[in-house]
Amino acid sequence: MSLKSINPKQTLAWKKLQAHFDTIKDEHMSKWFSNNPNRPSEMSVEWDDFYLDFSKNRITSDTLSLLKDLAEEVQLKDAISQYFKGQKINKTEGRAVLHTALRAPKNAHVLFEGVDVIPDIYDVKNKIKQFSEAVISGDRKGFTNKVFTDVVNIGIGGSDLGPAMVVDALSYYGNHLKLHFVSNVDGDHVNEILKKLNPETTVFVIVSKTFTTQETLSNATTIKQWFLKNATQADIAKQFVAVSTNIEKVKAFGIDPQNIFPMRDWVGGRFSLWSAVGLSISLAVGFDHYQAMLKGAYKMDEHFKEAPFEQNIPTLLAMLSIWYNNFFKAESEAVIPYTQYLNQFATYLQQAIMESNGKSVDRNGQRVEYQTGNLIWGEPGTNSQHAFFQLIHQGTKLIPADFIGFAKSLHGNQDHQDKLMSNFFAQTEALLNGKSEAAVLKEGVATAVVPYKIFEGNRPTNTFLINQLTPESLGKLIAMYEHKIFVQGIVWNIYSYDQFGVELGKQLAGKILREFSEENKAEHDASTKNLIARYKSIR
Ligand code: F6P
Repeated sequence: MSLKSINPKQTLAWKKLQAHFDTIKDEHMSKWFSNNPNRPSEMSVEWDDFYLDFSKNRITSDTLSLLKDLAEEVQLKDAISQYFKGQKINKTEGRAVLHTALRAPKNAHVLFEGVDVIPDIYDVKNKIKQFSEAVISGDRKGFTNKVFTDVVNIGIGGSDLGPAMVVDALSYYGNHLKLHFVSNVDGDHVNEILKKLNPETTVFVIVSKTFTTQETLSNATTIKQWFLKNATQADIAKQFVAVSTNIEKVKAFGIDPQNIFPMRDWVGGRFSLWSAVGLSISLAVGFDHYQAMLKGAYKMDEHFKEAPFEQNIPTLLAMLSIWYNNFFKAESEAVIPYTQYLNQFATYLQQAIMESNGKSVDRNGQRVEYQTGNLIWGEPGTNSQHAFFQLIHQGTKLIPADFIGFAKSLHGNQDHQDKLMSNFFAQTEALLNGKSEAAVLKEGVATAVVPYKIFEGNRPTNTFLINQLTPESLGKLIAMYEHKIFVQGIVWNIYSYDQFGVELGKQLAGKILREFSEENKAEHDASTKNLIARYKSIR
């Protein structure tokens, strides 16, 4: 079995959507609200502790039913079943995409090539639990017998962004351990972090699915050398652990086999925080919280598999995004969480979304004749209101935005929480309704300034009102976007789970690096050649 290759533009639904778009593209949403008081209840989903209001979108019930037809015509249901059943839907790399198995309960059975992967997953989880509990409790100590105070996660891309985002997001649930993330090959990054550390009380977690990534191996080597200034080779086993699929390379680096947390090649880097890549999360917030996050993701998986189109949160989000991307020609989407804890959420989503769906060849090997992956960006509100919201409100670009708010704050300061949430609701209301010329005139504004104070409105938003930011609700939120990515890849008829686009630059960098220490013999365009020569003369 493999994913079907259906050109979405050739479907009847796409053609109907195009005709439908032409009839409603200039309509103002506010009119639909005036005409239909039930619009919010007709266009919302209440599920567990999530409430999604998607009524502030430039859609009618006809749009929704055509988007549903499109999902059916590209055989989304069949694709979902292949995804969860461990079929090799990552065809270009010959791999399954089974991060969902990592959050399945212990009594589940998920077969990959005829073998149930669940027992193995739970063995690794058990190892994560024991290790993190021993470090947190102080039972496991460093080479001078001191308890640990700090943890450094050394990884990049999916081996960094997921754990870094979650550790930050769940810092309220954190323990005494201080987490640090070293990712960039920029030596100043690792050196700034080393400045803060005591080698006797720090655990080093080297995370690399392939264990061949230049950045991670360079940083791990620099950190090992720094550690060995104070400790012996034998002490490495006390403080260095690794997460990888490449056991041989990890051993060659000098990590004790006992300290290896294995992962499988059916987990994509950008979807790997549910695997042993989440070790730093478990260290930061404890295994139980880590497990609660996985439980939340599992609940979202079940919802995605079972809920009908009209109530299926990831599918609705994906189809709405396609509506804007392919019909309104919107190029980007914003994600605005109204909590500072989700400060790194958009950065995390950038890899998940853009590395997955930034593709231009379809599942037939042909160049696509429509737009695929959108740009994704964002920052927490209210900070973002004072940064880029001007452009969303009054700029020339259409930027659909997800607003993510939590009804209860974690520290319980109601005064701040009410101010925060009043902004949350105000922004989507302003984006919907705008401000008319008449309303501006009524304020007595000088005539010459009136045009500048008008807001067109009609800017689409999705509003998520979630009870509280907990490990479980965070797990649901992350899994929700993972499935949105999947649905979009299916509709766009692309392969979402490879990332060949990051290879070319890596290869060229290797070549250029060699040139720094040798005579410059390689062929380059004139600009690059000149820049390399200048660098060599002044470095
Ligand atoms: O940037 C490309 C990439 O392969 C990502 O997909 C991955 O998350 C990252 O590099 C790190 O790879 P690894 O975990 O193998 O070091």
